[in-house]
Amino acid sequence: MDKMFSLSVITLYLLHTITAASSQVSAIQFNNFGYSGAYTPVVDLANIYDDTCSCAVASKPTTFSGTNTPLNEEVSVHFRGPLQLYNFASYVSQDFTLGDNSGEFTRLSFYDSAEGTADNVTFLTRAGKNSSCLGFGLTYADTDGISKANSPTVLADDTLINSNQEYVIFSNLTCDKSGVNNDCGVYREDIPAYHGFYGTTKMFLFKFSMPNETKSAWDVANYNMPAIWLLNAQIPRTAQYSNDVNCSCWRSGCGEFDVFEVMNVTEYTHLYSTIHDYQGTDDIESGLAGNGYIDRDLNGTMVGGVVFDSTGKVIVWMSDDTTFDETVQAGDLNSWIKGAEKNAVTTTLPTASLAVATETGTGSSTTKKNSGVVVARSSLITVLSSLLWFI
Ligand SMILES: *[C@@H]1O[C@H](CO)[C@@H](O)[C@H](O)[C@H]1NC(C)=O
Ligand SMILES: *[C@@H]1O[C@H](CO)[C@@H](O)[C@H](O)[C@H]1NC(C)=O
Ligand SMILES: *[C@@H]1O[C@H](CO)[C@@H](O)[C@H](O)[C@H]1NC(C)=O
Ligand SMILES: *[C@@H]1O[C@H](CO)[C@@H](O)[C@H](O)[C@H]1NC(C)=O
Ligand SMILES: *[C@@H]1O[C@H](CO)[C@@H](O)[C@H](O)[C@H]1NC(C)=O
Ligand SMILES: *[C@@H]1O[C@H](CO)[C@@H](O)[C@H](O)[C@H]1NC(C)=O
Ligand SMILES: *[C@@H]1O[C@H](CO)[C@@H](O)[C@H](O)[C@H]1NC(C)=O
Repeated sequence: MDKMFSLSVITLYLLHTITAASSQVSAIQFNNFGYSGAYTPVVDLANIYDDTCSCAVASKPTTFSGTNTPLNEEVSVHFRGPLQLYNFASYVSQDFTLGDNSGEFTRLSFYDSAEGTADNVTFLTRAGKNSSCLGFGLTYADTDGISKANSPTVLADDTLINSNQEYVIFSNLTCDKSGVNNDCGVYREDIPAYHGFYGTTKMFLFKFSMPNETKSAWDVANYNMPAIWLLNAQIPRTAQYSNDVNCSCWRSGCGEFDVFEVMNVTEYTHLYSTIHDYQGTDDIESGLAGNGYIDRDLNGTMVGGVVFDSTGKVIVWMSDDTTFDETVQAGDLNSWIKGAEKNAVTTTLPTASLAVATETGTGSSTTKKNSGVVVARSSLITVLSSLLWFI
């Protein structure tokens, strides 16, 4: 390969990545979401309450390709405080193309805090037993979102979770028993295991508030850094926060999408959106963020959502026009987004993956924590050839 040419390719890539400071927007769009990649699912969790606790991932990776991969797989929906959730809904569509008014979305789940109803919604939280390699297990969440309940429970109307407190929403479909070839794969057997939300073309709507933190001590982790994000639903069913990379498929790239996330206390009023897989990056910890942020309203409620369309366009928007109807017509959805789109930022993802999934890498398989990925020198060639693919 010609050296000068490679250098200019790298320079172009870096310029493309670094230029243009982040600005305040109402919508964050990603085009060309989905690529040809692979991840390694967890196939074994052993002695989970012993010091000898260990996990293993498949020796043969699960490959994927096509629209919205790998998040075309089932996802769970995660919430971190300070946050109060008023409404949540999940939708699927046979066919929806951003900007095209044909088609519709059908609501499959709906939570309404004022009504105290949670249709096809199961609230879980990490209030289970602590395992040396898996961390805390999921349990049903009680009305406060963070204590353990013994059966599915709807959150109390005014439930505010504080910094670093989290709950998760799954569907109400229970998993078959844990097993490599079963519907939910291998999972931690002492948890209430539920399916996530399926669909290549899907949408999630949220009405929520993220008030300024006043209750937690400033030194708590993730202080005043609220977030709403999606994970491949396999991740929380094995281990969301683990120090062992083999206890979750996260490190190998089974997928995370951050919808509305405060990244640090300096920018505590900015909500960013980030993809964590290997599309266009070899740094899964940092992921690939949209080049703009949506304002976090510290006082009022916010309404918005994320839609994955049938052509690999994914858009996060905030607009008070958004409603939670049982059927959402494509035209209505486009009009909500269009309002927000006047002030939007778009990132077109490269088709290539910049790294092969690393099963053996050291460091945390944790989402929302940092630990660097060391890129082996030998992979530079791969990086260069992948860059050539998309420039
Ligand atoms: C799941 O939710 C649907 C929709 O609300 C409801 O019809 C169904 O009875 C629920 N199933 C279970 C097992 O709770
Ligand atoms: C949970 O277990 C891990 C690993 O053994 C340990 O480091 C951590 O301190 C435990 N957490 C609590 C709150 O007991
Ligand atoms: C509940 O959500 C799951 C996951 O998306 C879906 O498979 C199921 O059909 C939904 N149930 C109903 C009654 O719509
Ligand atoms: C929000 O809380 C932080 C402390 O966490 C404080 O520094 C800041 O002034 C507060 N912002 C407003 C607008 O009150
Ligand atoms: C906070 O996060 C934003 C977005 O990722 C980043 O641009 C900024 O440098 C971060 N600030 C600090 C102090 O880390
Ligand atoms: C908005 O919230 C901030 C921080 O909680 C507070 O300082 C401020 O007074 C509020 N503003 C209004 C207009 O209520
Ligand atoms: C993870 O599994 C791989 C084999 O797939 C093994 O080489 C590696 O040592 C394991 N990592 C840890 C931290 O156990």
